[in-house]
Amino acid sequence: MRTHRIDRPADLDVVRESYDRVADSYADMVVTTGIGDIRRHPWLKASIDAFADSVGGLGPVLDVGCGPGTVTAYLAERGLDVSGVDLSPRMIENARRLHPECRFDVASATELDLAEASLGGVLGWWSLFNLPREILPQVLGMFARALKPGGHLIAATHVGDEDLERTEAYGVASVSWTTHQWRPEQLVDLIEKAGLHPVAELRLPADEHVGPGVVVMAKRLG
Ligand SMILES: C[S@@+](CC[C@H](N)C(=O)[O-])C[C@H]1O[C@@H](n2cnc3c(N)ncnc32)[C@H](O)[C@@H]1O
Repeated sequence: MRTHRIDRPADLDVVRESYDRVADSYADMVVTTGIGDIRRHPWLKASIDAFADSVGGLGPVLDVGCGPGTVTAYLAERGLDVSGVDLSPRMIENARRLHPECRFDVASATELDLAEASLGGVLGWWSLFNLPREILPQVLGMFARALKPGGHLIAATHVGDEDLERTEAYGVASVSWTTHQWRPEQLVDLIEKAGLHPVAELRLPADEHVGPGVVVMAKRLG
C-alpha cells in the first residue's frame, strides 16, 4: 500500500484531454521545426548532458511528462536505462511511433507508484507546470523518495508569478489548462523541502518562442 498518497488535481481530466488535442501538432512541431528539441538549444542540451553524466550507471531513469519522447530517446541513445510516462495517451502514441526502441506508459505524475530508492534519475522536463501549487510539493517529495542516494532530479519550468489560463497552444485553439509559473527561488525552496540538495540552476530569458524559464538539478544525498 502506498503510504504517501498524492492529491488528485481537480483539473486532471481536462488537462489530459487538452494535451491529447495538441499531441499531434506538438510532435509535428518538434520533428519539423526542432522547437522543443534539446539538440537545437545548446544550454538545454548541456543541462541534459550534465544530468546524463551524473546519473549514468546509477539505475533506471524516469522521464515524467515525456510528451513525444524526444528527451527520453536522447537519453536512451546516450546509453541510459530510461523510460517515459505521460498523462496524455495521444502523446504516448506519438512517442511510441517516433521512438519504438524506447518504453513509454500512460500515467499521471500524481498517480505513479514508485518504490523507495529505486531510480538513478527522474525528469520533470517542462511537464510540472500544470500541477496545482499545493500538489507540486507532493510530487517532488515522491521524486525525492524514489531516488537512490546520489540520484538526481532535473526539472525545467516556466518562470513568473502568474497562473496563466491557456485556451490555445501549439496552434490548437481548444485547450484548457493553467500554467503555474514559479520563481526560481521558490522552485529551489520546494525541491530542498522535498529533501533534495540543489546542485545547479540555469536561468533562461524569454526568446521568440517561449517566456523565461529555469532548469534546476538536485541530488539525493546519502
Ligand atoms: C510542454 S509538454 C513537454 C513534453 C516533453 N517533456 C518535452 O520536453 O517535449 C508537457 C507535457 O507534460 C504532460 N503532463 C501534464 N500534466 C501531467 C501530469 N500530471 N502527469 C504526467 N504528465 C503530465 C503533458 O501531457 C505534456 O506531454
